[in-house]
Amino acid sequence: MSTVQPEEGRGGDAAREHRDASLTHWEEAASGWVARQATLRELSAPVSHWMIDAVDPQPGQRVLELAAGLGETGFLAAEMVAPVGGLITSDQADAMLDGARKRAGELGLTNVEFQVLNAEWIDLPVASVDAVLCRWGYMLMADPLTALLEARRVLRPEGHVALAVWDAIEHNPWALLPATELLERGLIQPPPEGTPGPFALSEKQRVRDLLERAGFDEVWVERLDLLQRAPSFDEFWETTLDIARSFHDAVLARPESEIRAIRASLAARFEPYTAADGSLEIPMRTLVGVGTA
Ligand SMILES: C[S@@+](CC[C@H](N)C(=O)[O-])C[C@H]1O[C@@H](n2cnc3c(N)ncnc32)[C@H](O)[C@@H]1O
Repeated sequence: MSTVQPEEGRGGDAAREHRDASLTHWEEAASGWVARQATLRELSAPVSHWMIDAVDPQPGQRVLELAAGLGETGFLAAEMVAPVGGLITSDQADAMLDGARKRAGELGLTNVEFQVLNAEWIDLPVASVDAVLCRWGYMLMADPLTALLEARRVLRPEGHVALAVWDAIEHNPWALLPATELLERGLIQPPPEGTPGPFALSEKQRVRDLLERAGFDEVWVERLDLLQRAPSFDEFWETTLDIARSFHDAVLARPESEIRAIRASLAARFEPYTAADGSLEIPMRTLVGVGTA
């Protein structure tokens, strides 16, 4: 029997340290995400719709969302599989799931279970779900290949996995410009090659390979362009502080005068995306993919 090796450098102490740090990071990030839930929902809706179309949920089916955060993608599926079918909304961070529980209540969904779990060890039986969704999760995981193998294990034959991961940072100025500002000031260091993070799986071929190595057939990966809109730079700044926890921590650790300087410099960097009325439209590019078990 052949064994599949985890991604290089993703085992052992480094992976364990990453998992611990990631859990702390996302437990702390949850309140900012809840505060910006409506903005996040609006900018990411095309991604959710692509993923839902790709897995094509049918009435009566069971859908699993991994690294669900506030759960918005899965909730679209919950409505489609109701009333007999159901959704499992899962994330490693319970604080994120608290936000998801609240949102499910607002939507009046009654067919959703919530489960705290790490997607690298899915606590479900073999062939127990019809579809797996994971939006902007796999690139953050210590071992995305193991996580995809787990997704395939819990999928019924012919079931689909749909995922989204960010395309290269060069196509994502919402992240590139704040990172450049902090790098140039020496407030952050470039992540070492191979470290999990928002842009760790930003090549189409890499995503295709991972899906195929995990045993998926009929693999398809494509790019999707999105826009982050903000009525003003001030609003974008506050949103970024709420959503991007690493940026938040690096900036707010600085003295007040330096925070003001960072803010002014960043406003200038975003001028190309700023209209005459002060509103911003910032491009975002993601990869979306699907595979069949
Ligand atoms: C960028 S957020 C995306 C949340 C949501 N899927 C969305 O698209 O809005 C990443 C989420 O992945 C979760 N996450 C990261 N690594 C994970 C893992 N190994 N297992 C489960 N959840 C994980 C985090 O806790 C966080 O909620």
